[in-house]
Amino acid sequence: MEKDSPDEFSNVKPFLKWAGGKGQLLKELEKRLHPSIIHERTIHRYVEPFVGGGAMFFFLKRHFQVRESFLFDKNRELIMAYGVVKNYYKKLVADLSEIEDDHLHKSEESRKENYYQIREAYNRQMNDFDYDHYHPGWITRASYIIFLNKTCFNGLFRQNQKGEFNVPFGRYKNPKICDEENLAEVHKALKDAQLFCGDFTDSENYILDKSLVYLDPPYRPISSTSYFTSYSKEGFNDEDQEKLADFFKKMDKKGAYLMLSNSDPKNQDGEDDFFDNLYKDFKMERVVAKRNINRDATGRGKIRELIIRNYS
Ligand SMILES: C[S@@+](CC[C@H](N)C(=O)[O-])C[C@H]1O[C@@H](n2cnc3c(N)ncnc32)[C@H](O)[C@@H]1O
Repeated sequence: MEKDSPDEFSNVKPFLKWAGGKGQLLKELEKRLHPSIIHERTIHRYVEPFVGGGAMFFFLKRHFQVRESFLFDKNRELIMAYGVVKNYYKKLVADLSEIEDDHLHKSEESRKENYYQIREAYNRQMNDFDYDHYHPGWITRASYIIFLNKTCFNGLFRQNQKGEFNVPFGRYKNPKICDEENLAEVHKALKDAQLFCGDFTDSENYILDKSLVYLDPPYRPISSTSYFTSYSKEGFNDEDQEKLADFFKKMDKKGAYLMLSNSDPKNQDGEDDFFDNLYKDFKMERVVAKRNINRDATGRGKIRELIIRNYS
């Protein structure tokens, strides 16, 4: 088999469920890849400045040859977890399967207690944790992140302003905490990927002529009660959206293939032309997608998303 052929990653998928995860939109995004990529089935350089759970990255790994990738996110917990799967996958699986065994052998009440103990340990650890240099504590912390993500209510990763994980316990019959097969594929898929914890603008120097760049910034809130921009302690306001549009224009001049998705503010207010104005020089389409994570059940319906590209 040719190195890095998509067959090696036939089932790879995100190992964390992430707010704003793009699972629902993948087919729409795929249709809109640059024709040369669809034709060659190869992506020479992939850059994702807001990687989150990486739904698009793993999708591309499943279906295309992706030669090298540069993945960025401002969330240090997330990038640390990616780093552990990439570099210390065996230790992670050993640790996580022990946590899983222990958890699944408990009664429902003890599972709940176990969940809150781990959540507490995870939050306590945060204050004097070295995220910059590897130490064995990384394995434990990455295991905690995956455990909490798989067993918390609604299964997502949300932090409060202090950076603490504050999602309550979720009742699942048999949560798959250690998905060894998928972690093995993620580990392989990350082999040719470089990971960066930082602002999206840090990706500038990695974006070259014909790089595929997929940008999925935090959503602009679709309603006053929406919490889409607060799942990470780093908010993303209109000024950041404007800064991103400037970045988009700059990267366009480099000759990169740019694709950006965002929520459509017109879902809420038909007069809201915020993105139409910001991206008026580019191709903007509105597509229907399903929203998975929302505070109230009524918000789970279909909703329009924007896909913006600098090519046709
Ligand atoms: C909508 S989510 C991306 C979801 C992703 N496409 C997925 O499928 O899971 C946006 C991500 O941007 C990150 N983020 C927020 N502000 C950022 C910034 N200034 N620079 C880089 N990443 C940022 C958040 O931590 C979050 O993971």
